[in-house]
Amino acid sequence: MNAYSVSGKVELKKTSFQESFKSISKKTDQSKSSLPFVEEVTPACSLSVSGVSYRVSERVGPWWDIPSYRKKWTRQILKDVSFYVESGQIMGILGNSGSGKTTLLDAIAGRLGSTGTLLGDVYVNGGKLKREQFQDCFSYVLQSDNLLSYLTVQETLTYTAQLALRKHSPEAIRKKVASVMAELSLSHVAGNVIGGRVFPGISSGERRRVSIASQLLQDPKVLLLDEPTTGLDSMTANQIVVLLSELAQKDRIVIVTIHQPRSELFRVFSRIAIMSCGELVFCGEPEEMVQFFSGCGYMCPEYCNPFDLYVDLTSVDTRSKEREIETYNRVQVITSSYQSSDTFLQMLGNAEKTRRLKQQPPIPFKSKESPSGFSKLWVLFRRTVRNLSRDRMGVLMRLSQNLIYGLFVAFFLMKLDNDVLKGAVQNRIGVIYQSMGASPYTGMLNAVALFPALRAISDQESKDGLYQKWQVLLAYIFHILPFSIISVAIFSSFLYWTVGMYPDLTRFACFSAVILVPHVVGELLALVLLGVVQNPNLVNSGVALLNIAGIMAGSGFLRSSQEMPKLFQWLSYLTFQKYGCELLIVTEFYGLNFTCGGETNSSVGGVYPCDIRQGIEFIDRAYPGAPSRYTLDFLMLYAFLPALVILGVISFKIRDYIVQR
Ligand SMILES: Nc1ncnc2c1ncn2[C@@H]1O[C@H](COP(=O)(O)OP(=O)(O)OP(=O)(O)O)[C@@H](O)[C@H]1O
Ligand SMILES: [Mg+2]
Repeated sequence: MNAYSVSGKVELKKTSFQESFKSISKKTDQSKSSLPFVEEVTPACSLSVSGVSYRVSERVGPWWDIPSYRKKWTRQILKDVSFYVESGQIMGILGNSGSGKTTLLDAIAGRLGSTGTLLGDVYVNGGKLKREQFQDCFSYVLQSDNLLSYLTVQETLTYTAQLALRKHSPEAIRKKVASVMAELSLSHVAGNVIGGRVFPGISSGERRRVSIASQLLQDPKVLLLDEPTTGLDSMTANQIVVLLSELAQKDRIVIVTIHQPRSELFRVFSRIAIMSCGELVFCGEPEEMVQFFSGCGYMCPEYCNPFDLYVDLTSVDTRSKEREIETYNRVQVITSSYQSSDTFLQMLGNAEKTRRLKQQPPIPFKSKESPSGFSKLWVLFRRTVRNLSRDRMGVLMRLSQNLIYGLFVAFFLMKLDNDVLKGAVQNRIGVIYQSMGASPYTGMLNAVALFPALRAISDQESKDGLYQKWQVLLAYIFHILPFSIISVAIFSSFLYWTVGMYPDLTRFACFSAVILVPHVVGELLALVLLGVVQNPNLVNSGVALLNIAGIMAGSGFLRSSQEMPKLFQWLSYLTFQKYGCELLIVTEFYGLNFTCGGETNSSVGGVYPCDIRQGIEFIDRAYPGAPSRYTLDFLMLYAFLPALVILGVISFKIRDYIVQR
């Protein structure tokens, strides 16, 4: 009777399949009628998904094949998926790669982007959820763990709790974190750091459990997990699933997508759903699954893992056209058998019943007592500082990179001379050019190295409803200020006095204050771009090009401002380099007297380069009126900082629409 053979050859014996299917139905009916009268208990929570379909419009070919690129086709990723689960149950969604498991979870969790069309309804406790309520109702653990490497397990959970729960006192938060850690067997690693790729921390199984624990802090009644066992050894994977089933037993609904579960988990799952090509091929209890497939003519041989067998059986094999047609037809037959089976009808009946309840229990939204925006910002700031300040190499690099650059300049230049024939003017311009031109790069490097990890976490946590993405950006910006001030102070203290710039404390302070801005602007520009550009390498190039363009148009070093075409002159007002360079020129040159070949009098005056004997002469020639604009230039220069912060916030608001998953 077994129509499924190892070679994959399938014979569909319709009549025998129908007969055996009838026998299952009979058995189910008999078993129902033989049951003594049991009062039906309304579950604490129920979730029913009804007719969920998702389709996207895609280009037929790649962009370089223009005729096919112009054409579009509609791809159905989810097809009329319906199922029902109640609290206390753990449902495992199986299926081959690309069958639509993650898309189904995303659809339920309200995390599908706006690129496709989502149809169908989701009911919780019989109440139909509005689209915007999806995220408030379900907790979602993504496939990859996004955690801050330098925080301990306890700190990670405490910060998450502080972001999620307002009405809780510090003591209540401590207790909540302790109880969640105990529930997930994390208490013994509470003080261990999470770790990352470059330094060891807790194990990957423990990291998975921390991700789950972060979600449990909000007391969700429905927990969705996308492949929580991926990358774990089979023992740890089993432990995670068993733990999830224990969580489900505490009146929760747990839905997990899973690849290749071990056969021991057969008894752990309360429901199994098998997906293929976006359709639900089967959904029911594990025993029902075996009965159903046996009824379809596919007996599970002894010592064979039923999960593997049935997933293979319901996968479409695309290796050849014939195999594809054959396997696709097989899946269609199994799907239509399921849709006319008692299991399916009973499931629809249960869903309908909860919708018709006279007194529907309230929809269990996640704990929504989140703190005020300012408190969240404060928590995010403390979390960012604590995490990044523990990165010793990172801190060292951030504080010393400007200094290292200053060392290069000082080593190359040695001492500034006051003799025009020995480069008094040219060398000063060189120092100013290098200081203005290089400091944005060091700022940019910091942002590109450190921020993407925080961005990934904010993408996830903002979808969890903990805060808005731009709040993480603001917390990061606040945290860079002290680092930038110290780093620039070290750089300018070294360079200014070593090369012998204008020996005056006030001017030194002005020099440092000016150099601080391009350094911070470089970092802010990178942050603005990181909001809308996913690839940090592209951001690197973008900021570098903007900086080169800015220094060319704004500094007046490559081409005198007065000589530039009008368009460039106007554009130069949009560059921070224009104000910065002008300020540094005045700071350094104003009141300076030069010699020419050792002569202080003007006997050789009037002949280039000896026609410049005073700094003010150079200023008047290259930057006319600059001393009178000193305060204005400072204001304009510093105005770039709030302007870029606002741009950053806008960019991270746009990111809400860009990030799909
Ligand atoms: N927004 C989208 N646009 C186009 N195709 C999409 C989109 N979202 C998902 N898909 C496609 O839908 C199919 C199902 O994807 P999904 O990630 O849900 O599969 P999966 O079952 O989770 O696979 P895996 O087991 O490998 O994680 C894939 O072929 C994927 O490329
Ligand atoms: Mg997936």
